Amino acid sequence: MSSKSNPVSRSGRFSSGPSQQVEDYGQSVTFDYRLWEYDILGSIAHARMLAHIGILTSGEAESIQATLEEIGSEIHEGNFRWDRSLEDVHMNIEAELTKRLPVGAKLHTGRSRNDQVAVDTRLWMKDELLELIDELVALQRALVALGSRNDRVIIPGYTHLQRAQPVLMAHHLLAYVEMLDRDLERIVQCYDRVNVCPLGSGAIAGSTLPLDREFVARQLGFTDKEGRPRVTRNSMDAISDRDYIVEFCSHAALVSIHLSRLSEDLILWSSTEFNFIRISDSFTTGSSLMPQKKNPDVAELGRGKTGRVVGNLMSLLVLLKGLPMTYNRDLQEDKERLFDTMDTVRSTVRIFASMMPEIAVNAAHCKSAASDPLLLATDLADHLVLKGVPFREAHHIVGATVALAEKLKKPIDQLTVSELRSIDPRFDGESRKVFKLERSLASRTMTGAPNPDAVRNELAKWDSVLAKKAKCLTA
Ligand code: ARG
Repeated sequence: MSSKSNPVSRSGRFSSGPSQQVEDYGQSVTFDYRLWEYDILGSIAHARMLAHIGILTSGEAESIQATLEEIGSEIHEGNFRWDRSLEDVHMNIEAELTKRLPVGAKLHTGRSRNDQVAVDTRLWMKDELLELIDELVALQRALVALGSRNDRVIIPGYTHLQRAQPVLMAHHLLAYVEMLDRDLERIVQCYDRVNVCPLGSGAIAGSTLPLDREFVARQLGFTDKEGRPRVTRNSMDAISDRDYIVEFCSHAALVSIHLSRLSEDLILWSSTEFNFIRISDSFTTGSSLMPQKKNPDVAELGRGKTGRVVGNLMSLLVLLKGLPMTYNRDLQEDKERLFDTMDTVRSTVRIFASMMPEIAVNAAHCKSAASDPLLLATDLADHLVLKGVPFREAHHIVGATVALAEKLKKPIDQLTVSELRSIDPRFDGESRKVFKLERSLASRTMTGAPNPDAVRNELAKWDSVLAKKAKCLTA
């Protein structure tokens, strides 16, 4: 498209438009069109402010608003033709406005695409973050519900993927609820930093016109809890700052890593080797070749998609490294990474919340795995400690006891008192009682340990905490 037919071109100085190759290489509308709703909101707020300071008449501002809204509904209905030669979402909408309404040419007064893209992205993020917060809370609820439905199921806990000590399955699931809660906290803090209005920073140095930035911030909802407008404090920072995007992508990477670890647990638990859970048919797939297969694809994809979420964060960090102040076109590369991160993490959180009710726990198999008496070897050492044996020595004695059981080819809890005493005379008739699983769990009474009553209290606590959580987090 020639610069003459482009009503928003930066014409004047150029005798020709960019070559087709440059146009194709530089356009961003094929992905930043997603910001259209926020671009229109930002433009309406800006037009109102221009009327407020007397640069537009109120009639002009109103007709700009009406025309932008008309364009908005056409976009919404899919009746808008995006033009790649107009480069990005901002120029597409402004060009259409000006085509329909000549006074639209006044809209860009005191504004640059540099502060426009920053305000659009922040507005878009605010809405998306609120959705993500709700979705994370829903996933927490689904994990708590799965734990509550199986609140008596005991499984071996693992370290180094070797059986370690018995825990309640609910305790294991609540560990993820804790992780997601820290994620939520970080995302709420990120929301707070996104919630600052950059519009009015112009291209780099504000404007010679008396723009009312606070007016715009108020219009767009960039306000604090008391309703006071929040505006950026340095025009150069405001247009080149992408910290809030990096911050979000970093928090999102951690969400993704948490879900990837959960995926790994679910994949292991659903294997024949573990056989702790069964994921319903609707959340698994078969093999095209092996008729017996039931694959936990959703969990595997969740684990796999973590790669791109982490990759997006790395791309952004490298993108920003060494950029001189202030806006550089490189920054256009932020959006696909941001959009992909948001889409990937939100869809993963949602599908995981839907998958939790589809998990059936194989209580009998969990029980038999948890009845391995070796899981209570540490309890036996603790029993000796209570008799005054230093722990290091007790550890050694129990190690010898495990070796004896192996040698005699019997489970450690089947050793007779005299066999135990052949290792250490401080063993007595009480010693074998430590192998009672319920007793072992019941005696773990300190905060944070998997005592069954305590775990049930935690489940109940989360139940009521999560019922109140969600949008109120950012209110
Ligand atoms: N499409 C651009 C971006 O996403 C908008 C800002 C362009 N500013 C400029 N001075 N070329 O970053």
